[in-house]
Amino acid sequence: MSRIEGAALRLDAAGTELEEIEIQLLLEGIHLSYGYDFREYALNPIRRGIFAAMAREHVSTVSAYQDRVLHDAGCMQRFLGAVGVNVTGMFRDPDVMRAVREEVAPLLRTYPSSRIWVAGCATGEEVYGLAVVLEEEGVLDRCSIYATDLNEDMLAVARLGSYPLDRVLRYEEGYRMSGGRATLADHYTVAARSARFDRRLQSTVTWARHNLVTDGSFNDFHLIVCANVLIYFRRSLQARAHRLLYDSLIRGGYLALGKRESLVDCPDSEHYEQVLEGVNLFRKMRW
Ligand SMILES: C[S@@+](CC[C@H](N)C(=O)[O-])C[C@H]1O[C@@H](n2cnc3c(N)ncnc32)[C@H](O)[C@@H]1O
Repeated sequence: MSRIEGAALRLDAAGTELEEIEIQLLLEGIHLSYGYDFREYALNPIRRGIFAAMAREHVSTVSAYQDRVLHDAGCMQRFLGAVGVNVTGMFRDPDVMRAVREEVAPLLRTYPSSRIWVAGCATGEEVYGLAVVLEEEGVLDRCSIYATDLNEDMLAVARLGSYPLDRVLRYEEGYRMSGGRATLADHYTVAARSARFDRRLQSTVTWARHNLVTDGSFNDFHLIVCANVLIYFRRSLQARAHRLLYDSLIRGGYLALGKRESLVDCPDSEHYEQVLEGVNLFRKMRW
């Protein structure tokens, strides 16, 4: 049996007590060595990520994998890719982006300057999508956008603002559904089968590493977008992260979540109002 098959078999047998112990030790070691705290992440996505990463590294036990991760920073980066659940895209929830256009942008227009935080921005597609919306609504130049993620490798891709053209062409429909005023192609140039988003879109963006589990809050944001990140956290951790987002918003500020996320585990949920029914955009009304 190959090592990869071995890893796959162990995935089938997932949930044994020994495996739980090995996974806990792995996550503890990662926390102590690298500072990433995955100990309170929802177990199933973490387990899937670990076994996918093990198969790629050709190791058949979690303990052997732990040894590799702790001694090899490159292996750790690959682990982050595997469990960092780095699926992303532009206009993943066009309804939220339309609400940003129609509800948030008019408010931003009334301020001389506004602060926006995109937390868990992965490789940046979501940030460029948001910048396109803000530019079309005439408010981008008065916004400061902080785009953060746990993973430095993803931020490095984000800073380039260049993505495979075939993928970007598929974002056109989401752009249109979000109320796009022209075509998405007006915002990038094509070279060698890549779409490079216009530099002006990121002239107001600061890319930075930030860990929603261990790092503190920022302050006074008018809009926070944190989509498809909390879904990977256990409930207690979701509550903690929600508190951090809440504390980082001004009164009257907006919070955008992913399609499958909610305020169920938010300790301050009664202080938010949903802007439009069925759309995951919330406004902090009281505290
Ligand atoms: C599924 S992607 C979502 C990306 C983007 N927000 C979107 O909706 O397309 C989740 C991102 O959250 C990041 N992430 C995971 N845990 C995090 C944490 N504790 N702090 C900050 N970012 C985190 C991952 O590195 C990954 O880039």
